[in-house]
Formats: sequence, structure tokens, C-alpha cells
Amino acid sequence: MQGLAKLEAHAQERLAPAHYDYFAGGAGDEQTLRENRDAWRKVWIRPRVMIDVAAVDTSCTLLGRRLELPLLLAPMSAQRLLHPGGEPAAARAAGAAGTVYCLSTRATADLAEVAAAVSSSKVATGPLWFQLYVERDRAHSQRVLARAAEHGYEAIVLTVDLPVAGRRERELRHGEFPFPDGVALASHLGYELERHQVPIGGYDTTLTWPDVGWVRECSGLPVIVKGVLCGEDAEAAIGADAAAIVVSNHGGRQIDGCVPTAVALREVAAVVAGRVPVLVDGGIRDGADVLRALALGADAALIGRPYAWGLASGGETGVRGVIDAFAEDLRRALALAGRPSLSAVDASCAQLAGW
Ligand code: FNR
Repeated sequence: MQGLAKLEAHAQERLAPAHYDYFAGGAGDEQTLRENRDAWRKVWIRPRVMIDVAAVDTSCTLLGRRLELPLLLAPMSAQRLLHPGGEPAAARAAGAAGTVYCLSTRATADLAEVAAAVSSSKVATGPLWFQLYVERDRAHSQRVLARAAEHGYEAIVLTVDLPVAGRRERELRHGEFPFPDGVALASHLGYELERHQVPIGGYDTTLTWPDVGWVRECSGLPVIVKGVLCGEDAEAAIGADAAAIVVSNHGGRQIDGCVPTAVALREVAAVVAGRVPVLVDGGIRDGADVLRALALGADAALIGRPYAWGLASGGETGVRGVIDAFAEDLRRALALAGRPSLSAVDASCAQLAGW
């Protein structure tokens, strides 16, 4: 996205160093963090010419809902560290742009507050999804799922790549994580937090595929499995009745050195073969990257850090600016590639450079 580096620099100036590093950083040597971005650049776009692109349409349908563009806001924890508006501000921006906001379990706003912020906005049309980390105390997670359904969240995004947290050197370097007064994690869960903001009892490290069904039963909602990086797990997710799959390595924050998501996407999309929607995130930084993702078989992409920098710089308006810049970029990329709608994007739109 044009101006993204400047936006990040601006956010960095405004944020406490520990907070900036929390959002910007990855695990280990940050190899995966870097390679996520680089891998998209190794997908060349293969344009067609002499095609009428007077009207370019970026809309799509996902889980039965029309979205204005195939770009969603990924779940990201602690957004009030970025801006006092936090999650409600980001959710309103996504809703007004006609796309999905996915609220993190580790949010700094209650899920009811976020739902109210979106529904009070006259222009918001984009749906809300709720991202779940399953706690060891399952009864707590069960209550959260029931509340998410009650407040109109339309899907549960079950994150499966965090049985334990990755080793994030930047966070370790800063030591104690400072939370400003009035900002706290996971207020909607109603549980007490231990040091480092982990729920007492911790997250459930025993999760296996049958638990996808448990999440669906507790919520009555479609379950999207986030954090799949290979065909075997995509097949298992479909076998567990996942409504969709997100190819993700958690933005390079979990196992460093793992496969970049652009590479994993090809394998997963081939195995899934259209049976459920496939989404992808990690290093998507402009509209051309979204086009590359669609060409490699994704139905839509998600962004994390780019909207964090928008939120830090300008609250709801800042996030909206990022979404609009991606949308404009995508429209231009589609026109230049000779694919005026998303249905015209297929594998013939991409050529692989060196992998
Ligand atoms: C995340 N991510 C994440 N994922 C999730 O399922 N639940 C969460 O609470 C969080 N929290 C979180 C915090 C921060 C600071 C970051 C950067 C990321 C991962 C996120 O949903 C997404 O997979 C990545 O951010 C996508 O990569 P990019 O776009 O940031 O490169």
C-alpha cells in the first residue's frame, strides 16, 4: 500500500517502544515474519490486455454474506494499546467499508461493546466474527461463545496455531508489559488474568480436531479454522466440518522458520479444491498482494499490522484510510491485470518466480 511505511513510522513515533514492538515483532529471528512478505513478491502477476475494465467489481460473497472487498481485518489483541478507540473503532471502520471485523479473544473491549459500536453506526454493513482461544476452563469458553452468538457475531474463528506462545524476542527484551490505566485484556471473558495477561488456568493445550464440533455446538455458529499451513490439516479441518480455513502462521509470531503463507496457500487451495472458502493472511501489504492471493486460490485475504498502524495513527478514520487504500489498489491491480471482477481471477493470473 502506498504510504504504508510512512504510516508505520508515524505509529512508531506515537507508541511506547514496548507496544510498537509487540505489534511489529515476530518469533525467533523473525525469518517467517520477513518471508511472509517476500513470498508474495515471488508471485508474478500475469496480465491480460484488451479487456473491458471500465467497471471493476471487488465484491464477493463469503459464508453467505456479500462483502464489498475480499479483504478482512484479522483478529489482533489489545488494540487499545494502539489508540483509545481500540477495537470498537476498528470494527466500525470495517463495517462501514462493508467487510468483516474479527474480534480477538484477547481484545481490550468487551464483545458487547464492539457489537454495539457497529450496530449503532448507520453505515456499517460488514459482519462481525469472533476469534476464540480455548481456555483450559472450558466452561469459561462456553460462556464466551454463547455471548458471541447472542450479540450477533456471525462466525467463530478458532485459532489453532497457539497451543503455546511463540518465543518473541522483542517482547522478552522489554520485560514487563506496561498496560496504561484503564486498559485491560479480555474484559468480556470476565476472568482474572495472571501476569503476562494469560487467563488463570491458561489456554487448552489438548485441542484436537473433534473440538471444532464442540465450538460449533457451544455457539451454534459456523467455525472457521485459522492457522492451517498444509494440505493434511486442511483435509482434517474439512473432515471436522470447518466452514472455512485460514492459511496463517499468525503473522510470523508462532513457529519461526515455518512455511510462508503464500507458499502454503497453493498446497492448501489444491487440497481444498473449492469445498470450503480458503482465506489467507501474513505479509499482505497492498492490493496486488490481494490479487496474488486470489490467483493462488484464496477467496479472500486478511490484514493485521497494516490496520494496526492505521488505528495508531488515526483511530477509526486511520483504519478506514488503510482499507480504502487497499481497495483502490486492488481495483487498479484488477484493471491492469485485465480481470475486472474477482470471478475472473484464477491460476492463469499468476506465474511463480523461483519457488
Ligand atoms: C495477532 N494475531 C492474532 N491472531 C489471532 O487469532 N488472535 C489474536 O489475538 C491475535 N493477536 C495478534 C496480535 C498481534 C500484535 C499481531 C501482529 C497478530 C495474528 C493475526 O490474526 C494475523 O494472523 C496476522 O497479523 C497476519 O499477518 P500480518 O498482516 O500482520 O502480516
